[in-house]
Amino acid sequence: MTILSVLEGNLATATADTIIVNLFAETPEPSGATGAIDTALGGTIRRLIASGDIKGKPNELTVVYPVEGQVPASRVIVVGLGPRDAFTAERARQAAGAAIRRARDLGGTHVATVLHGAGQGHLDVPVAAQALAEGTLLALYRFTELKKADPNRHEIEHVTVVEQDGTRIEAIGTGLTHGRILAESTNLARTLVNRPPNILSPRALAEVARQASAEVGLRCEVLGPDDIAALGMGALAAVAQGSHEPAQFIILEHRPEGVDADTAPVVLCGKGVTFDSGGISIKPSQGMGDMKGDMGGAAAVLGAMRALRALNVPVHVIGLLPATENLPDGRAFRPGDVIRAMDGQSIEIISTDAEGRLILADAMVYARRYTPRALVDIATLTGACMVALGAKVAGVMGNADVVARLRTAGDAVNERVWELPLWADEYGKMIDSDVADMKNAGGRNGGAISAGKFLERFAGDSDWAHIDMAGLEINEGELGPYRPKGASGYGVRLLVEFVSGYAAGH
Ligand code: BES
Ligand code: MN
Ligand code: ZN
Repeated sequence: MTILSVLEGNLATATADTIIVNLFAETPEPSGATGAIDTALGGTIRRLIASGDIKGKPNELTVVYPVEGQVPASRVIVVGLGPRDAFTAERARQAAGAAIRRARDLGGTHVATVLHGAGQGHLDVPVAAQALAEGTLLALYRFTELKKADPNRHEIEHVTVVEQDGTRIEAIGTGLTHGRILAESTNLARTLVNRPPNILSPRALAEVARQASAEVGLRCEVLGPDDIAALGMGALAAVAQGSHEPAQFIILEHRPEGVDADTAPVVLCGKGVTFDSGGISIKPSQGMGDMKGDMGGAAAVLGAMRALRALNVPVHVIGLLPATENLPDGRAFRPGDVIRAMDGQSIEIISTDAEGRLILADAMVYARRYTPRALVDIATLTGACMVALGAKVAGVMGNADVVARLRTAGDAVNERVWELPLWADEYGKMIDSDVADMKNAGGRNGGAISAGKFLERFAGDSDWAHIDMAGLEINEGELGPYRPKGASGYGVRLLVEFVSGYAAGH
């Protein structure tokens, strides 16, 4: 556990083993905290700039070793911030992430750092502090719970933001707390996706939801197979019937103080397939293990709900997580079956591998009882969406206002979404069935859209949008300083930012 704090004082005299300072591009003379450290180091940073060794390029790292007595720390890391006028919170997250990773690699445990970009970078102080906390804690994340203790693995214990200006201390503290909550919630989502499917069963997911809820004060209710049957959730039940693990339907609620129970909530639904083998329509075995991440939508909603509660965002929010496995078995549902969702609509099963839309259909029907102010579902839903967008951004479709809000939120936190159309004339008939109200899979073309058209039929008259995050739940390799290989935690910061947009009557 890395502790983040703020301290008024001088970075050059900070008691830490590692000092982090920064430099914008085209800065001949370091100023501010970097200038003060440079002076303490006898002008080494200035000389390295003059020789061209330090350029201030984004995430450029230079380690300077002080000689006895210059500063208490044993190393100074200079991180590049890129051009001053192109500076953003995203640049600050990356700079913080790059520097802290280097500090850990070098054996540091106690780090003192400057805040990135709150001066010449023109970020507001709390925004800069939040970005530093997010970049730091997201970059330090590792999934180690299944490995034996390794004496060569150590953690950064303390990161102190050292600030000269006493008037900024409180705002820095607020920003650090905000960023810490978002990063911890994202890291929770990462851990859930990283956990193997024999460990993270639907019941294990429900248990984590209960624990996280107790920790922050969310209301949490878990429905089991009998409740699911009694509610008529025939689509969730059909997917679950091939597994020995009972399905769970997890309901989370954040109702901020002063908001009445009947205020229309924002409802978030997350696909929670803890393992997707495809069922009877079984997937090829190559890469099938990655389908442990098919609960990435549920993880995103749980992480977001945790953060919304901990931040006490003044919006009434409900999170719904339908959770099940999708396995082949003598009792499994089959292609050709016709099943009924909770609202009575009948569905012809074309592929048992198109299971996510089935469990979300029941969750969306359930959501309608709240007459939501907005209804958003998020799911690792289609390989077709990955083909369309290259697994770089998520697909989004649905109500224009909700889609626009999701785009704005995604751009703000760098978890972007891109719209796909649901036009009735072109796409309206893709999932018409000869024997039932609809079928669960369209043809080969436009697979992300036919999934969207399917879900649309369960949105009722809610202002609904669907996020297809397939391929974004796991980073195949490192994607930058704070996005390590493995589970990404995609969607947590996006959903928190999106819901926050509904605060104060917006
Ligand atoms: N969980 C998969 C989609 C997926 C694929 C997520 C790759 C992450 C990475 C989903 O349940 C699925 O199998 N979808 C099918 C739908 C098809 C049968 C209509 C697909 O995309 O092939
Ligand atoms: Mn599937
Ligand atoms: Zn799936």
